[in-house]
Amino acid sequence: MVFIFSEMNEMKLIEWRDEFKIGIDEVDFEHQELIDLINVSFSEADKKESNMVILYFLGDIYSKISAHFALEEKHMKELGYDQYEDHKQDHERLLDDIMNIMDDYRETANLDKKEFGERLSDWFTQHFKTKDARLHKFIK
Ligand SMILES: [Fe+2]
Ligand SMILES: [Fe+2]
Repeated sequence: MVFIFSEMNEMKLIEWRDEFKIGIDEVDFEHQELIDLINVSFSEADKKESNMVILYFLGDIYSKISAHFALEEKHMKELGYDQYEDHKQDHERLLDDIMNIMDDYRETANLDKKEFGERLSDWFTQHFKTKDARLHKFIK
């Protein structure tokens, strides 16, 4: 996987910035890893004709994001986070959404790469810039 990262510098879908840090090291580390994985998925989608590659990456994203949400929820509980339920509900919605994206690509023969990139980027960044950013404010 490492060699793929080095090839894709110029085509990042989501650019990591230090200001995205929420203040819990292991969560921040996973956010960076997830952004890397999303970027690789997009860059591979751009190179390959087959939807199978996309489905493979989406499966990987799904399992990593499930584990990430569990970690974030554990921290929120320990912190007594005031918007725990709302944040957890949004995690559940995101898991449904990625399943829907996978179903769409399983059923569609022709992959629209631009649309794929937009869906993937919106999917992650909307939660990240609202719910995770709110958690950051709470921690500060
Ligand atoms: Fe979250
Ligand atoms: Fe998160």
